[in-house]
Amino acid sequence: MATRAKARDWAYEDEAGRRMATECFDRVPESVAEARQLATEAMAKWQMEAIADRAELVTSELATNAVLHARRAAFRVTLRGLGDHAVRIEVYDFSRTMPALFVAGAHQVHGRGLALVDAVSQCWGTDRLPWGKRVWAHVEAPTAYESPVPVQPDETPIWATRKSQAVYMGVVLVAMGSLAYGTRSR
Ligand SMILES: Nc1ncnc2c1ncn2[C@@H]1O[C@H](COP(=O)(O)OP(=O)(O)OP(=O)(O)O)[C@@H](O)[C@H]1O
Ligand SMILES: [Mg+2]
Repeated sequence: MATRAKARDWAYEDEAGRRMATECFDRVPESVAEARQLATEAMAKWQMEAIADRAELVTSELATNAVLHARRAAFRVTLRGLGDHAVRIEVYDFSRTMPALFVAGAHQVHGRGLALVDAVSQCWGTDRLPWGKRVWAHVEAPTAYESPVPVQPDETPIWATRKSQAVYMGVVLVAMGSLAYGTRSR
């Protein structure tokens, strides 16, 4: 278990009055799960479960990159609520080397993390800072007009359903039976 350099702080609001959760982590692999947990808790607390999976994935990839590719002993993860349906995830580290999104070859095991972030976020970017950098991404819930067309419960015409065909066959058989019975009894 990584030692926390600073306790999680939920009381924060940023300078723009946005909800903020932030935590500083030791730059060790175990911290990735803790960073993901910070995202999970923020999404639950801010009732953004609809985007929780994507927020956790982005946090996980950016935190993993800080652990693997940055330098010095710590990195910071900050989540900020953007209204009620979006979150900004920021990962700060002490390396001034900027991440590079590249297309991983079919047989390459690594090199897909940022491509994933690019795929599941609305936008992402990097900011160079005097002592390192910030990598950030915005994850938003789909807006009403983007939501998929609701699936009709059943568009099969009534006469084409198995039930109506069975009823139809039943009626035909009864009619034939009574016809045959009528002919014989005359
Ligand atoms: N925080 C960072 N600091 C410095 N370099 C970075 C950072 N994040 C990413 N990079 C650079 O950008 C490259 C691409 O990152 P990406 O996450 O796409 O792939 P990866 O980390 O190499 O592999 P994967 O995420 O698939 O395990 C990295 O190989 C690394 O060179
Ligand atoms: Mg990566």
